[in-house]
Amino acid sequence: MEFRYLGRSGLKISEISYGNWITHGSQVEEDTAVACVHAALDEGITTFDTADVYAGTRAETVLGRALKGQRRESLEIFTKVYWPTGPGPNDRGLSRKHIMESIDGSLRRLGTDYVDLYQAHRFDHETPLEETMRAFEDVVRQGKALYIGVSEWRAEEISAALKIAEERGFDRIISNQPQYSMLYRVIEQEVVPLCEREGIGQIVWSPIAQGVLTGKYLPGQAPPPGSRATDDKSGADFVKFWMRDEVLTRVQDLRPLAQEAGLTMAQLAVAWVLQNPNVSSAIVGASRPEQIRDNVKARGVRLEAELLARVDEVLGDAVIRDPAETRSPATRP
Ligand SMILES: NC(=O)c1ccc[n+]([C@@H]2O[C@H](COP(=O)([O-])OP(=O)(O)OC[C@H]3O[C@@H](n4cnc5c(N)ncnc54)[C@H](OP(=O)(O)O)[C@@H]3O)[C@@H](O)[C@H]2O)c1
Repeated sequence: MEFRYLGRSGLKISEISYGNWITHGSQVEEDTAVACVHAALDEGITTFDTADVYAGTRAETVLGRALKGQRRESLEIFTKVYWPTGPGPNDRGLSRKHIMESIDGSLRRLGTDYVDLYQAHRFDHETPLEETMRAFEDVVRQGKALYIGVSEWRAEEISAALKIAEERGFDRIISNQPQYSMLYRVIEQEVVPLCEREGIGQIVWSPIAQGVLTGKYLPGQAPPPGSRATDDKSGADFVKFWMRDEVLTRVQDLRPLAQEAGLTMAQLAVAWVLQNPNVSSAIVGASRPEQIRDNVKARGVRLEAELLARVDEVLGDAVIRDPAETRSPATRP
């Protein structure tokens, strides 16, 4: 495995990390979840991403159990706060109350005294940013999180947080967690240039577009059994964004490019996001351990400029680039 600094911090993380959204506590049984985590560890992955909201908090519990017995210093455990974890008006968002309560719940479920990175899972338009940043600062001072980051924040939201940190002497954000893949590049125009200047690393989600970039979904055909597109608990709802024939057809046209590069389609997709030097890690998901073993072979791969240009040609206007697509709910969910 290769390791990269998370932004301008001293923290090194595996350039491929493992995330358990959709899968743990929902799509897959616990023995499969544990087998995926163990496959990740065997392949040298040390960085694990989850969130309080995943599978109604069960995903953190499953990850905590799967990592039990590992040397804590050899792991980087990331979680997040913002989306609802209960029925009440304060069981969501980035108020001081919810941040302070949610971090304790996450630590309990994960079975650890601290997380390495605590992330704001969206921007909360209903809470003063200074309140959020001060609460994060206190979480860090209490030793419950070592670093703080954000997810899906716009460039101007990240700038505003950096300004408050500067003025108040708070710890700075070191990371952003956006969606990024060959098909979804909305961070390239505004977020990445800002983050490069400010020393913030991207930990990117759905680098394989939830499985779509493996090429296993064929245009005009039913999705393969057992795939996310058939998961009626929640997976199908999320992946349906990509399940359009014009996208699936273009993805099939990537197949010869992957073959020429000596990569599987999934490896090409992961390697593609890792070519961006502002990316600190690609968070891959897996519903079975073989997928992890396949996908990690993207580590250390360098793709030629000519191949990258052909990827752009093949995908054409199926690629989403508008920075305005990065947005958090106007009111708390
Ligand atoms: N911050 C945020 O708002 C946010 C949002 C979403 C995700 N995330 C993070 O990003 C992580 C990864 O997201 P993701 O799961 O969508 O990532 P992904 O790596 O793009 O997709 C993973 C899914 O693709 C399929 N797949 C992967 N490798 C495959 C292979 N070699 N062959 C066939 N199918 C394969 C599997 O689904 P099936 O086998 O079921 O088809 C797997 O669960 C999450 O766990 C979470 O930590 C963050």
